[in-house]
Amino acid sequence: MKFKLHSGDLMPLIGFGTYQIRGTQLIKDVLDKALAAGYRSIDSAAVYDNEEDIGKALKELLPKHNLTRQDIFITTKLSPRDQGERAYQALERSLKNLDCGYIDLYLIHWPGVHGINATKEDNIRARDQSWQQMVKGVKNGLTRNIGVSNYNVRHIRELITNDHGIKPALNQVEWHPHYHQSELLDLCKKEGILLQAYSSLGGSDNKELLGNSEVKRISEKLGKSPAQILLRWALQQNIAIIPKARSQKHMEENIDLNFSIPEEDMKALSSFNQKKIFLGS
Ligand SMILES: NC(=O)c1ccc[n+]([C@@H]2O[C@H](COP(=O)([O-])OP(=O)(O)OC[C@H]3O[C@@H](n4cnc5c(N)ncnc54)[C@H](OP(=O)(O)O)[C@@H]3O)[C@@H](O)[C@H]2O)c1
Repeated sequence: MKFKLHSGDLMPLIGFGTYQIRGTQLIKDVLDKALAAGYRSIDSAAVYDNEEDIGKALKELLPKHNLTRQDIFITTKLSPRDQGERAYQALERSLKNLDCGYIDLYLIHWPGVHGINATKEDNIRARDQSWQQMVKGVKNGLTRNIGVSNYNVRHIRELITNDHGIKPALNQVEWHPHYHQSELLDLCKKEGILLQAYSSLGGSDNKELLGNSEVKRISEKLGKSPAQILLRWALQQNIAIIPKARSQKHMEENIDLNFSIPEEDMKALSSFNQKKIFLGS
């Protein structure tokens, strides 16, 4: 299952999240299992402090799994500390860390600038400068696609009125039955921007969604795990997913989503009490 981005590149709809997975050996072990399970898309970020270890691990693991750089889709993100004119240097640094020739997708991690109040006009200027630098990054071959993360409707509207020649490919946001925004999804679909969900399972160390009685009821009815129900719920709305898992069993489960949730159960999952945001990292 792949989505064609504005550039024409195909991006797998199921990717692998790496937040809080760091350290040379742990990254190597986890990515080894993820590649074996079939993941071909990896989500990182400058603030996850694992780009260098991902780069090192892939050098060893791609030949082991009979894969080449072109078989893998690598996403990383601009730190809120580097918003503005420094964005180009930050992109160069991420590419150097990953040491993988080019980045597939580079995202503005957060619409705000570290240390500047969210209501301040400076954020608008910094977002625009970051985007200009990222457009330069595409033109110079550092990254093939650019996009955003944690952007709301206002941020997306602001960006598409002045995109400096390149539309955002994707918006990565928190998205699960307790938190989803139809206006944002509609706008992204209209603009051809792929919406990608994070924390689909409720995030690390949070079992609230996985243990929800309605999720469990549907999982028992369909003979699937609660995690598979939550992931399939997003995928069935044409939303990309990037579940994170350390255990092989979880990894295999999270990519085995070739089933369908009946309409009435989709509606039940979509009508949970909203606004329970779990995190935003
Ligand atoms: N752009 C942003 O601001 C932002 C924010 C948050 C996350 N993200 C990205 O999105 C990715 C995913 O989000 P997330 O890390 O918050 O959490 P998540 O994917 O919602 O949940 C991960 C947790 O669920 C557990 N899990 C995984 N598969 C499971 C299964 N089949 N059954 C039961 N438990 C399962 C994992 O346990 P085990 O590890 O023990 O398997 C882990 O503790 C991140 O890794 C990151 O790449 C981006």
